[in-house]
Amino acid sequence: MKIMTVVGARPNFMKAAPILKAIAVHNRAASPAGAIRHVLVHTGQHYDANLSDAFFKDLELPRPDVSLQVGSASHAVQTAEIMSRFEPVLAAEQPDVLIVVGDVNSTVACALVAAKISYSAHGGRPVIAHVEAGLRSFDRTMPEEINRILTDQLADLLFVTEESAVRNLAREGLAPDTVHFVGNTMIDSLLASVERAGESGILESLGLRDNGATKRYALLTLHRPANVDRREAFTSILEGIQPLASQCPVVFPVHPRTRKQIAGHGLHDAALAGIRLIEPLGYLDFLCLMRHASLVVTDSGGVQEETTCLGVPCVTVRENTERPVTTEVGTNILAGVKAEGIRRAIERQLAPARPGSVPPLWDGQAAQRIVEVLVARMRTV
Ligand code: UD1
Ligand code: UDP
Repeated sequence: MKIMTVVGARPNFMKAAPILKAIAVHNRAASPAGAIRHVLVHTGQHYDANLSDAFFKDLELPRPDVSLQVGSASHAVQTAEIMSRFEPVLAAEQPDVLIVVGDVNSTVACALVAAKISYSAHGGRPVIAHVEAGLRSFDRTMPEEINRILTDQLADLLFVTEESAVRNLAREGLAPDTVHFVGNTMIDSLLASVERAGESGILESLGLRDNGATKRYALLTLHRPANVDRREAFTSILEGIQPLASQCPVVFPVHPRTRKQIAGHGLHDAALAGIRLIEPLGYLDFLCLMRHASLVVTDSGGVQEETTCLGVPCVTVRENTERPVTTEVGTNILAGVKAEGIRRAIERQLAPARPGSVPPLWDGQAAQRIVEVLVARMRTV
């Protein structure tokens, strides 16, 4: 069997890395005929060293076999560019299975190419496997929601992280026998890395740990277009965070989209008072900061899941979440995007902790289950 996996943007790397490791484990036990050949494709949707290379190092990912180097552009141009560069690669490699992860433009673009390709040798196409299928925010103004819905419609195998996704896929008419509740590969990465993240020197270098004692601080990430592209929305969120920033340092690794908007909106020092802007961090440094934070404020998808797994209180500055299990059993609460709602949510999360629990199957074994399903599926064709 030959498997091709596509990565493109920051949140893809930690979802894909455990699958590559599980394939390596399978290969160590397999006969030569049962070994899986693997091809890693990087679309280059993210290309800055601290959004891409750093993750290859921290997650011990091999160098990509193919780099499409698409770079940034509008949605249409970026998606089209990925498709036209990916098609000849797929046609040449002819994998039996194409794995796409998450909900970024690279995910839908490569799934769409694979769904329509016809291999020259026998006219077939790869089995398309979507990892992190079925999540829905029910908000079609989010580009990711469009990517999720379309990718799931194109996929043959749907690997899901939580129960809500099983229900969403059933409602959209997808056959139950294509849906596999396997757990969360992003959490596989987290559990595999948390010990190494303990060796990060980030707390010391930010002055948040002195003589072994960690100071109280909060961690902030913001990059959703709806939150940062409009000045009004961005300033309202910062206003909601201000009372927190007057109590403890708020560390803010700034995504490049957000960095651009801070400059473009002319946000002045007062709006950012007490908020410490730093460059985006590598995976292990960020994991270390997340783990020791008193509170995380975010609009990231993945960070909602990681804080739930770590038991760290999380305030999500969005009106909705496609990851409801993090609010139902985890440590996440939805604050909306208005200053007052954010202030209240932060106060609530700073009060003595509401103990969360880790969602079912977020146990570090999701990638292994995925590989088992793929191997069983290929035996039947
Ligand atoms: C993308 C994903 C989003 C994901 C986020 C994770 C889509 C539609 N969006 O959003 O789901 O949550 O990544 O971080 O796929 N830029 C750089 N350097 C880079 C990459 C981007 O400077 O390496 C800047 C460019 O100015 C670019 C902007 O960031 O225009 C936005 O990048 P883009 O990939 O279009 O979307 P993200 O906001 O990163
Ligand atoms: N992350 C990181 N460094 C940062 C910010 C985030 O390593 O400075 C990690 C985070 O731990 C998670 C992933 O990036 O594993 C989430 O990606 P992002 O928030 O960009 O995308 P989303 O999950 O919103 O799609």
